[in-house]
Amino acid sequence: MSTAHHADLHLNQIEPLLTTRRFGRSLELRELTDSTNDDARAAANAGAVDGHVVVADAQRKGRGAHGRSWLSPPGQDLYLSIVAKLEVPLAELSLLTLAVGAGVAEAVELSANVKAQIKWPNDVWVDGRKIAGILVEAASLGERALPVVIGIGLNVNRDAFPAELETPATSLKLAGGAPVARAQALAVLLARVEHWVDRFAAGERSALIALVNERLALRGEQARCDELEGVVAGVAPSGALQLRVAGTVRDLYAGTLRKSSPPPREG
Ligand code: BTN
Repeated sequence: MSTAHHADLHLNQIEPLLTTRRFGRSLELRELTDSTNDDARAAANAGAVDGHVVVADAQRKGRGAHGRSWLSPPGQDLYLSIVAKLEVPLAELSLLTLAVGAGVAEAVELSANVKAQIKWPNDVWVDGRKIAGILVEAASLGERALPVVIGIGLNVNRDAFPAELETPATSLKLAGGAPVARAQALAVLLARVEHWVDRFAAGERSALIALVNERLALRGEQARCDELEGVVAGVAPSGALQLRVAGTVRDLYAGTLRKSSPPPREG
């Protein structure tokens, strides 16, 4: 990648900044691809090592959760997928997503010097605005668990977002007040995500859940998860969202959490 607008994302810039043991030690950089999650899955099927990373400057068909698309214009942000050879039971995938969220939130804080929150189950927010999204995809072949693909989209230097976005968005640059070199942001991201994925894999569930609860967006606020409305009480040890509905705490395992709109003003 040699054009000027990619000046901050080169392999020879990334390598010296890496502090990880596995994540990114094998890394491919693409100028334009459909989805790095697909590329990482293909690499995994072809025998890629644990921690192999695919990063793209732009994606044509970036995917978000629930079949949504992830707009991936060139020159500004990070789109990456990590091949993680973890045997994760399907029931624990949401915990892995939260572990990745913990790492992304820490990386955002280190890169932009701002406070970051985890918006259950797969977003990272700064000041109520979405700065990153996570898409963990797993597959299995009969009894055998295949490597997990951890996809992360991080808004780094974007200054403007489409007005029709459901959740307002921000970037490291907008939130922190200064542009951030993508190679640097990537190295910090891989370090913090590796740290939390390792802790997840080591079974440190309680430390993970405690951190997620400390950083939980909308905690104590009125919110809606699909059809259910209540107050966000926390995240359970299983990774489920706890919503207090009419005095009873309900554990929710999937859904899209949104802040409730305030009731119409009277008068
Ligand atoms: C979400 O917020 O719904 C998750 C967004 C995940 C986007 C990333 S960008 C890199 C990787 N490739 C994809 O197609 N999606 C993920």
